[in-house]
Amino acid sequence: MAFPRSTCLLLLLASFLLTPLEGHTFNVMDYGAIGNGRTDDSEAFMKAWSDVCKASASPTFLVPGDRRFLINPVVFEGRCRSKKIKFKVDGTITAPSEPSKWKCINKQCHSWISFKHVDGLVISDCMYSLTNLQALVVARSNNVQLHDLSFKDNPHMHVVFHHCDGVKISHISIDAPEDSPNTDGIHLKETASVIIEHCTIGTGDDCISLVDGSTHIDMRHIKCGPGHGISIGSLGKFGLSETVEYIHVKDAQFTGTTNGVRIKTWQGGRGHARNMIFEKIRSSDSEYPIIIDQFYCDHTECHDKPNAVEIRNISYIDVKGTSKKETAVKIACSDTVPCRDIFIQNINLIYDQSGKQASAYCKNVINGYYHGVVRPNISCLQNDKLP
Ligand SMILES: *[C@@H]1O[C@H](CO)[C@@H](O)[C@H](O)[C@H]1NC(C)=O
Ligand SMILES: *[C@@H]1O[C@H](CO)[C@@H](O)[C@H](O)[C@H]1NC(C)=O
Repeated sequence: MAFPRSTCLLLLLASFLLTPLEGHTFNVMDYGAIGNGRTDDSEAFMKAWSDVCKASASPTFLVPGDRRFLINPVVFEGRCRSKKIKFKVDGTITAPSEPSKWKCINKQCHSWISFKHVDGLVISDCMYSLTNLQALVVARSNNVQLHDLSFKDNPHMHVVFHHCDGVKISHISIDAPEDSPNTDGIHLKETASVIIEHCTIGTGDDCISLVDGSTHIDMRHIKCGPGHGISIGSLGKFGLSETVEYIHVKDAQFTGTTNGVRIKTWQGGRGHARNMIFEKIRSSDSEYPIIIDQFYCDHTECHDKPNAVEIRNISYIDVKGTSKKETAVKIACSDTVPCRDIFIQNINLIYDQSGKQASAYCKNVINGYYHGVVRPNISCLQNDKLP
């Protein structure tokens, strides 16, 4: 059947108008990528990115499936024209196995795949391979989403965000060996308004770490283990003034971790860790399901100092399970800058699977209250008289 000429023209005009609106897909194969796992595809990726960044309407950067792309450390730089960019990786991206063979930009090899100044970035469907660098770094970008990614055995930090505002991380799985140092799962610095949900992280360091400038961070449905738990800090090293606040963890499961929820600060620091709620925490054989440590020190010689990062307004609500150490709760605050406004409601922790009594260590808390069942007893808290 033949269309009248006017309809054809209209269709032609419509498709011409629609193409740029719908968001073009830029396939790295069209830019010379080989995807055989041996040839360096970095340049093809950079060329494709250059077009993606110039495109006007929601472009997609596509790394097609069933191939392995060898990529040297790269930075995908903005600022880009579109305020929404999809980075879709169906295939596998891998780094050269020999660090000596890496071609680093300006000889700086800190991270492998970085994004800088890219607002509205959505990264999905990736399977990353190992590198000796921070695997994925997103810097100075707003409204970024990361979903459905998996990382395996990266020997350095896995996902790092710094100087970002508005981040959603969901359905990420990270899997690294228990004995691998500095392999934090997700690390945030100077980053605000973040949701991290439905993530499963097993690593040799913190599952999630929040350092200076992390604010309004919501974490829910997190599974952590092995690893060092969810850590706030460390803060205040070298006498620095550092701040983390408005943190909410809800529904976190720690299995065989060294800590559950931890706040760690250095003697001599300034600033504060405050306004946090840790809720519905489950521990299975973690060493310290609850820990506040104002004397954090990772080397042998550390001295107490008059200054400390202030810890204030921290609530633990509904914490249950088993601990691997007899001391299941440790709240170690300093004489000079005690912890203030610590609230604990309904916690029930037992020492290892055999059901023995656990104990708690608690020092220098002002305005510490408990409510409901609190096992083990935490001596430095008072019974909350509220109904
Ligand atoms: C205590 O922290 C919670 C959680 O962030 C916050 O909603 C509340 O306003 C804080 N209270 C005070 C007095 O700052
Ligand atoms: C906790 O305190 C209560 C009341 O003082 C006491 O009966 C109980 O035995 C204590 N439990 C532990 C584990 O110390």
